Amino acid sequence: MQKETSPYACHIFVCTNDRHGEKKACADGGGNAALKDYLKERVEKRGWKGRVRVSSGGCMGLCGKGPNVMIYPQKAWFAVASPADGDRILGEIESLLAAPPEN
Ligand code: FES
Repeated sequence: MQKETSPYACHIFVCTNDRHGEKKACADGGGNAALKDYLKERVEKRGWKGRVRVSSGGCMGLCGKGPNVMIYPQKAWFAVASPADGDRILGEIESLLAAPPEN
């Protein structure tokens, strides 16, 4: 095993876990899959590719508060209320990228 530092300033994990209606899950209603696609498209359009990565994530253990999005290494958690929250998340990332790096 080799330990490395993540190449991304920000890694966005969008929970797309689906329990097929048996129990509440972030994939309910399809909103988080659409949000993930939207975030990916916007990250590319803003020229953040290589610095910001958008990935599907599995259950984050906060299903009752979801749909959920988490950002690492900043440890930011967003309980998404609507697809429009994608722009708010992007705004947060813009601020994170503009902030001077921590030592
Ligand atoms: S299903 Fe998304 S946090 Fe559990």
